[in-house]
Amino acid sequence: MTSNGGTHDDIGVGLISVGWMGKLHTRSYEALPYVYPELGLRPRLVHAADTAPDRAQYARDVLGYAKASTDYHEVLADPDVDVVSICAPTGLHREIGVAAADAGKPFWIEKPVGRDAKEAADVAAAAQSAGVVTSVGYNYRHAPAVEHVRELVMNGELGRITNVRAVFFNGYASEPKGALSWRFIRDLAGFGALGDLLSHVVDLVQYLLGRISDVTALTSTIYTERPILPMGSGTHFAVIEDGELAPVENDDYAAALVRFAPDSRAAGAVGTLEASRIIVGPQCGIGFEIYGTEGSAAWNFEQMNELRICLGRGGPHFGYTTVLGNSHLGDYAHFQPGPGTSMGHDDLKVIEAKKFLVAVTGGERRNSTVDDAHHVAEVIAAAAASSERGTWQQVPAVPAAAFGGDAATPVTATG
Ligand SMILES: NC(=O)c1ccc[n+]([C@@H]2O[C@H](COP(=O)([O-])OP(=O)(O)OC[C@H]3O[C@@H](n4cnc5c(N)ncnc54)[C@H](O)[C@@H]3O)[C@@H](O)[C@H]2O)c1
Repeated sequence: MTSNGGTHDDIGVGLISVGWMGKLHTRSYEALPYVYPELGLRPRLVHAADTAPDRAQYARDVLGYAKASTDYHEVLADPDVDVVSICAPTGLHREIGVAAADAGKPFWIEKPVGRDAKEAADVAAAAQSAGVVTSVGYNYRHAPAVEHVRELVMNGELGRITNVRAVFFNGYASEPKGALSWRFIRDLAGFGALGDLLSHVVDLVQYLLGRISDVTALTSTIYTERPILPMGSGTHFAVIEDGELAPVENDDYAAALVRFAPDSRAAGAVGTLEASRIIVGPQCGIGFEIYGTEGSAAWNFEQMNELRICLGRGGPHFGYTTVLGNSHLGDYAHFQPGPGTSMGHDDLKVIEAKKFLVAVTGGERRNSTVDDAHHVAEVIAAAAASSERGTWQQVPAVPAAAFGGDAATPVTATG
């Protein structure tokens, strides 16, 4: 990483795994000089690895990495690699996350950071002892509407928060012949909808409101077998008509009732959280409704650019107002010159890349961290334990988790 008069004009990027997220991380790094020219960040694509040789080749020939290999250790050993994106299947996160920390490389790792709380804790401990900056793929945090609701909560404009409803209804496996990708195999993924989808919901509400302290939950599996999809081929949206069937090893649906901690912004408030991967209708429906004594706010990613707000009570216009994306909300102005022009999913990843590299280069720490992910994993572990035992579970606190820090203002630091 070279520094030039306060700007960081050359950050060598390593990529581990060239699937959906690997390609998206790559495009996000590449967008930074155009979207945030004032930051002076100049990521350079250095070295990518994927065990599927055609994907490694694609990384070099199409994405533009200077080097490509089928062994991720070569990426971590490369002295030209300054930061690493870890986009491997969840079951490899612990091994690769710890190896990246041991190699002294700051890393941006996809959620849910390991199969369980122990694996997330191991990655967080390795990053802490190596002193490396981390970031986690909790992209929905960065939606301008979400950032704005966080500011409303922090400024007290919704009053005392009483309750939140939040869901991730994503029907990627609603088709019974939907492929048995690695996501359905416990050794490769850990939990099902709990880890894949509810982890996003837990991160989102903790980003908005603070720490969850108690959980009770239920899970279920609706389709118990599916046609096999070989690793490194297709996507988890694939449908296979006459394939060989194998068992689904984790949950399709999860519901949790949670309580927020006394030291959170929603002390004593209650949340109902749900996730389903087999739901018919919603496609990528992650969203929330937050209710306070002075107002409420509602948002769903399927209408990412629309925020519904009700502030105060009474009067002829009492009720929800729909606010479209505009320059007052989060990083909107970096993407669009005027209000009402839609941003998209991939833009959220550009914001995530920005927060990561600003933190890596010594600027403001608005990045999600593996400590945040560790606390999310503790909530998910408590939900899994509750669904087995039928009891409320306390969630152990993770002192280093900051849930995005306390800054309510947009990032301007360049590091
Ligand atoms: N933030 C989000 O919204 C979001 C969305 C999708 C996926 N994810 C997460 O991203 C991660 C990857 O998911 P995906 O959808 O990109 O998966 P994918 O199936 O599209 O790609 C996974 C890639 O990993 C490769 N791989 C397997 N073993 C490997 C190894 N030992 N070394 C290097 N590469 C290896 C495969 O060949 C494949 O190319 C998961 O943890 C998932 O939970 C996050």
